[in-house]
Amino acid sequence: MTAQASVDRIAVSAQAARTPTRIRLWDLPVRVFHWSLVLAVATAVVTGELGGSWMELHGKAGLSIVGLVVFRLVWGLIGSTHARFVRFAPTPRQLAAYLQGRWRGTGHNPLGALSVFALLALLAAQATTGLFSNDDIGFSGPLFNLVDEALASRLTGLHKQLANGLLVLLAMHVAAIAFYVWLKKDNLVMPMVTGWKDVEAGASAEKGGPVAFVVASAVALAAVFAVSAAAPSAAAVAPPAASTQSQPKPSW
Ligand code: HEM
Repeated sequence: MTAQASVDRIAVSAQAARTPTRIRLWDLPVRVFHWSLVLAVATAVVTGELGGSWMELHGKAGLSIVGLVVFRLVWGLIGSTHARFVRFAPTPRQLAAYLQGRWRGTGHNPLGALSVFALLALLAAQATTGLFSNDDIGFSGPLFNLVDEALASRLTGLHKQLANGLLVLLAMHVAAIAFYVWLKKDNLVMPMVTGWKDVEAGASAEKGGPVAFVVASAVALAAVFAVSAAAPSAAAVAPPAASTQSQPKPSW
């Protein structure tokens, strides 16, 4: 091979290494999970603020969040490449590299990954405390009757406080996405809609298998049914002797 041919060859392979590859970064389950979660959380926030007869819908949105978060936790263990927690859980070294602008990778960046874990943990805590809460008027979570009044009231207080933390985290989440879109000219939203993203050459993504999907869906549905089944029927709850006003009515 002539010297010129080998120089050309090196140039071609260097060019190939720089050419971005288009991969299916977020598979359908992750995208359906994300936008369903947005809908469920928005519904829960609005109905929680409205209160009264809207609490029925608030409870249903809360149960959907339980199912979605359980699905995502299982999908994070056995799902597609970039959905897996081990894939994006950052090491301190990766975090430092990201903060110094040296991180190269595909999927959630190290700081984004921390916010994903924080969001999932907060959503899980928010939904769990909601199951034991009541609004002192006519609505209670499906597991309210499983704990004593003092604990239920503490969990209700926690449910309200966590909601503020969640709103702050969500505002930061949307602000970070906007920062990437407008200032860093990296549109993260389209991949969360279509799945596709141009990434550095060599990166790849594998879809989660159908068995993994069935397992994650089954565990999520089982969790929702278990929680719903624990709610006593209205007939099973005896009204207090003095007043029926303060008795929380199971509505799930
Ligand atoms: C209630 C509101 C929202 C919640 C609870 C929420 C939650 C989440 C969660 C848990 C993830 C991680 C996804 C995963 O790995 O499965 C995520 C990622 C993402 N979200 Fe949201 N989100 C919300 C609103 C939004 C909105 C309004 C947008 C668009 C402007 C958005 C855009 C994105 C994008 C682009 C990612 C991927 C980020 C990346 O590439 O690392 N989210 N969101």
